[in-house]
Amino acid sequence: MRVHVLGSAAGGGFPQWNCNCPNCDGLRRGSLKARARTQSSIAASADGVNWVLFNASPDILAQIKAFPELQPGRNIRDTAIAGVVLMDSQIDHTTGLFMLREATKPLQIHCTDMVREDLTTGNPLFTILGHYCGVEWQEMATGEDDSFEVEGAPGLRFRAVALSSKAPPYSPHRHDPHIGDNVGMEIIDTATDKRLFYAPGLGRIEAHLPPIFKRADCLLVDGTFWTEDEMIRLGIAKKYAQEMGHLRQSGAGGLIEVLNGYARPRKILIHINNTNPILDEESPERAQLTAVGVEVAYDGMEIVL
Ligand code: MLT
Ligand code: MN
Ligand code: ZN
Repeated sequence: MRVHVLGSAAGGGFPQWNCNCPNCDGLRRGSLKARARTQSSIAASADGVNWVLFNASPDILAQIKAFPELQPGRNIRDTAIAGVVLMDSQIDHTTGLFMLREATKPLQIHCTDMVREDLTTGNPLFTILGHYCGVEWQEMATGEDDSFEVEGAPGLRFRAVALSSKAPPYSPHRHDPHIGDNVGMEIIDTATDKRLFYAPGLGRIEAHLPPIFKRADCLLVDGTFWTEDEMIRLGIAKKYAQEMGHLRQSGAGGLIEVLNGYARPRKILIHINNTNPILDEESPERAQLTAVGVEVAYDGMEIVL
C-alpha cells in the first residue's frame, strides 16, 4: 500500500498566520532550516488509483493540487477520493469537507456516532453539506472485532481504535468524554497484511495499544508537542499538551520513550505543532529523534508498505 502525507502540521499549520514563535518567525525570515507544512491529513491506496482520505483539512485544495494522483481526470468531473475517514471532529480535520461540496455524488464519510453528532450539532457540517453534494454517513464502530472497507478503494481494510484524547472545544460534550470522540486507525493491506497505525491525536498509551503498536509495520503518530508546557512557556496559550489530548514527546513517560520500546515498526511523527522544536532540522531535539530512529513527517512524504 501507499500512504501519502498530504499535510503534516497540527491545527494552524506551519507557519501559522498570526504566530511569531521562534519557529514561525524563523521560517518566514529564512533563518531556520525547516519546511512549511499544511494541516494534517493523509491518503491511502492499495492500487495507487483509488484513495481513501483520512481527515479533510482546511488546506485540502492545496493538498489535492500538490498530489496529482487525487485528480485522475477521467471524466468532466472526477476525483480519485473514494471516501473520507474522520479521526475526530476537530476543525483542522473536518472543515476541508466544505471544499469538497462540488462532488457529483454524496460524500462517503466514515466516522463514529460521536463525531457525527458534533458534525450535526456544534459544527453542523453534515447538515450544511446536505444542501450541496450531501453526505452518506457510514457508521464506524470501535469494538475489538469491528473493521470496515471503503467502497471503491479495493485492497484496504480499516480498524478504528478508540483513543483517549479530547472532543473539540465547540463540542457539546467537550468536558464529558465519550468513546469515539477520537480514534486511531489501523490501515491494513489485505493482500500483504502490512499494517500502518495512524493516530494524529494520542492522549495517552492505554492498555489496548501495545499489541497494536507491536503488530504495526509503521506507526504514524502524534507529533504535536515536544514538552507538556510548550505553548505556555512561549506565552501563546494557557493549555498544557495533556489538556489538549496530546502526549508530549520528551521526558519520562513521553512518546519517544514509548516508541523506543518497539524495535520493528518504522516510526514517524505527524500532526506537528508549529511551536515544536523538532521542526527545526538543526535542533538538538531533532538530532535526538534521528538518534533513536524516529522520523518527522513532511508534506508530500510517501510511505510504501
Ligand atoms: C488539536 O489537535 O488540538 C488541534 O490541532 C487544535 C486546533 O485545531 O485548533
Ligand atoms: Mn489537531
Ligand atoms: Zn508558531
